Amino acid sequence: MDPIRNPYAPGAGTPPPELAGRDELRDRVGIALARVRLGRPTKSVLMVGLRGVGKTVLLDRMREDAEASGIQTLFVEAPENRSLPGILAPQLRQALLRLSKNDKAKDLAQRALRGLAGFATALKVKYRDIEVGLDFEPEPGLADNGDLELDLLALLEAAGSAAKEAGTALTLLVDELQYVKEDELAALITSLHRTAQRRLPVVLVGAGLPQLRGRTGRAKSYAERLFDFPEVGPLAPEAARTAIAKPAEAEGVTITEDALQRIIDETHGYPYFLQEWGKHAWEAADASPIALGDVERASATAIAALDESFFRVRFDRLTPSEKRYLRAMAELGPGPHRSGDIANMLHREVTSLGPTRAQLIAKGMVWSPSHGDTAFTVPLFDEFMRRIMPGDDWRQ
Ligand SMILES: Nc1ncnc2c1ncn2[C@@H]1O[C@H](COP(=O)(O)OP(=O)(O)OP(=O)(O)O)[C@@H](O)[C@H]1O
Ligand SMILES: [Mg+2]
Repeated sequence: MDPIRNPYAPGAGTPPPELAGRDELRDRVGIALARVRLGRPTKSVLMVGLRGVGKTVLLDRMREDAEASGIQTLFVEAPENRSLPGILAPQLRQALLRLSKNDKAKDLAQRALRGLAGFATALKVKYRDIEVGLDFEPEPGLADNGDLELDLLALLEAAGSAAKEAGTALTLLVDELQYVKEDELAALITSLHRTAQRRLPVVLVGAGLPQLRGRTGRAKSYAERLFDFPEVGPLAPEAARTAIAKPAEAEGVTITEDALQRIIDETHGYPYFLQEWGKHAWEAADASPIALGDVERASATAIAALDESFFRVRFDRLTPSEKRYLRAMAELGPGPHRSGDIANMLHREVTSLGPTRAQLIAKGMVWSPSHGDTAFTVPLFDEFMRRIMPGDDWRQ
């Protein structure tokens, strides 16, 4: 069918034509933000889920929801090699400049901007990637100790006071939070703890891979009480149906029941895969309705497309020993797997594979659901590894 009208949108962070199955979570976060604005006790929210389940697009939608109700937001993605102060500072400045346009909050917002100037100047030595416009002179003693934990706390307190005066809340939306270093994460948690104690309207809505939960607990033991950790998973069958059928309907196209069922079976309801299968099924069909035969032909091209993009970008970042480790895991199935079983596959000792496993965790390729267990963070990665490294060469 007409490729120009193909509604499906596979891609990292690409908004789907229909954001299916996430209303409950959006409502939950909406309530949390409304509460924090009123100064009611509220937990920050850290959404955890595997690659491609739709964390980024959900976070982005929550930002839109928040802004529509007059809440100030700042949105950052934590890349692997940037510091938290480095990525937060410019966004925080923008939010404070917006707040300073509010008559009531003007003075406090300007004070927070002075805090930001002190913060950036004092921490620049340690975090060289802080690049932020300075609108005011620093206020001596405000967020300028050169200690991240103390200074971030003072800065968010100042920003929270300004937001409170403006009758709004400040929401920090942080994607890929698992990449933030543990001491920087600890500083963020301490700051949120303080603003919560002081009933200041500052809240974090974060997203990351499942290891984020353990990381926050290690960074600060009381983090478990400060945060909710809702899981973002594959879509339940009803939502997966909606994700495929509704965008087609909007184009006047239907899809037969068995075709729809086949897409759900093949994708296991994972959002990225749903978009890929939807796109390819549309391409395979000549006319409405999209039928089972179309989906069967689409499966081959959808898998090829995933192998070239979604899976491939991750595979290309691996060293040869990391590839062998993941290939051994794949041999054992979808997982999680015991470290001992993986080592046996490679005829190695568990301890000698420790560094490889640690690198894979740092890269976000695997995580540890419980002590001694290892699981893929990318859904269906085991099948991909068996496709891309067929045969037995990896065992040596
Ligand atoms: N609720 C949903 N319904 C339908 N499609 C969705 C939904 N959520 C996400 N998608 C689609 O899934 C794909 C992946 O979304 P996104 O990039 O947000 O995932 P992610 O969890 O952030 O992945 P990663 O961990 O790799 O960053 C996109 O193509 C998006 O359009
Ligand atoms: Mg993402």
